[in-house]
Amino acid sequence: MRTFFLAALLAAGQVAAAGDPKAGEALFKRCAACHQVGPYAQGGFGPQLNGIFGRRAASTKDYKYSEAMKKSGLVWDEKTLAAYLRAPHDVVPGTSMRFWGIKDEQQVADLLSYMRSLR
Ligand code: HEC
Repeated sequence: MRTFFLAALLAAGQVAAAGDPKAGEALFKRCAACHQVGPYAQGGFGPQLNGIFGRRAASTKDYKYSEAMKKSGLVWDEKTLAAYLRAPHDVVPGTSMRFWGIKDEQQVADLLSYMRSLR
């Protein structure tokens, strides 16, 4: 059941619109309360998100992840990030990320295009 649901969420990610990185940067302010990025980023309330594209879930060393995230086996890419941002608790049931999710397709696309630039 869960596999099916996840597959559906991932498939939904494939039709994402083209994103605007500037708009994404502005939207990222919602994430920045918990997530740091940039040269001095470190784990705080949430893990730092530098180089998040291509990163394995729960792989930064200075952050204590939930068991759910450690066991998720996800690699963050366009599809998995889009699905997680839409519905964190559906994609990683038991995640400690207290975030209700972003339903707006354009906002997800904008955020992803900004996050792609995070090295
Ligand atoms: C209220 C705090 C909070 C907010 C707001 C928040 N997050 Fe998170 N985020 C977390 C926590 C805590 C975790 C660790 C989850 C776990 O271990 O289950 C996390 C994990 C993640 C991960 C997985 C990182 C990894 O190393 O595997 C990504 C990606 C992520 N968040 C992206 C975002 C984005 C993008 C936003 C804004 C749209 C956002 N988060 C908003 C707290 C937050």
